[in-house]
Amino acid sequence: MPLVTTKDMFEKAYAGGYAIGGFNVNNMEIVHGIVDAAAEVRSPLILQASSGARKYAKGVYLRKLVEAAVEDSGLPIALHLDHGADFEICKECIDNGFTSVMIDASHHPFEENVAIVKKVVEYAHAHGVVVEAELGRLAGVEDDVKVSDKDAFYTDPEQAAEFVQRTGIDSLAIAIGTSHGAYKFKGEARLRFDILEKIGGLLPGFPIVLHGASSVPKDLVEKVNKYGGNMPGAQGVPEDMLRKAASMAVCKINIDSDLRLAMTGTIREYFALHPADFDPRQYLGPAREAIKAVVKHKITEVLGSANKA
Ligand code: G3H
Ligand code: 13P
Ligand code: ZN
Repeated sequence: MPLVTTKDMFEKAYAGGYAIGGFNVNNMEIVHGIVDAAAEVRSPLILQASSGARKYAKGVYLRKLVEAAVEDSGLPIALHLDHGADFEICKECIDNGFTSVMIDASHHPFEENVAIVKKVVEYAHAHGVVVEAELGRLAGVEDDVKVSDKDAFYTDPEQAAEFVQRTGIDSLAIAIGTSHGAYKFKGEARLRFDILEKIGGLLPGFPIVLHGASSVPKDLVEKVNKYGGNMPGAQGVPEDMLRKAASMAVCKINIDSDLRLAMTGTIREYFALHPADFDPRQYLGPAREAIKAVVKHKITEVLGSANKA
């Protein structure tokens, strides 16, 4: 089976009230961990590479790893560009076998965002590739309190409906209070489900994407800190909120930080407990297993995408 787009995945996820994980990949162990977990519970997958990932691993290595994952697992897997900064980057990925791209022009004024996204959609659709775009700005509570109009960062539902209609995109990333990284909330976690609900009402059947959706599990942070790390106050999106989002219009939930935490905590622990070891396979193996455990939990307990492959 070749790499697939997200079209079929999202249709089924929307109808079934679950979400597909958009997992960030940067090297072989991360790909193995995610794919081994998904294969055990028969979940479709979106494996995504950011610009940083493509620079770090070289785009072609990541693409070949993901192609190998399809061959190895037989799962429906989409290869997605995460946060494509401009048309050229999206075009390069489309020309090189990606089946889905994100054009992130959300920091531009609305009309400019529409124009840039439209250009990507035209090129992508002509090549059988689907497009995710973003409207609104992901912000944490910290940003929130600095802004006088609190809602300025959140996605405006009416504008979202116009944006989808004018650009012809296949999915839309929205800002409802999540943010990237391991420090999402200072205090109580809060997401604007009212905004998500309005968007769902204005765009029935249309797949919504949630970025910055790691849950930053306490046990993973504790392990990092126990073995020499320093991540005080790390906090993510509670799992019940992600389940609720998945039951609504959210069809793709992006997860990177949780994988980083799993890998880092495990390697820190290994180094602390086995100071004489120096074969990378000795610590990368357990790190890969830790990623697998996180992803399996995510698929079965949060996303609801098990047995949907
Ligand atoms: O959205 C951000 C992802 O976590 C990717 O992060 O740009 O450091 O690869 P990165
Ligand atoms: P996290 O930092 O919450 O894992 O979000 C990742 C993401 O949104 C990738 O695009
Ligand atoms: Zn993101």
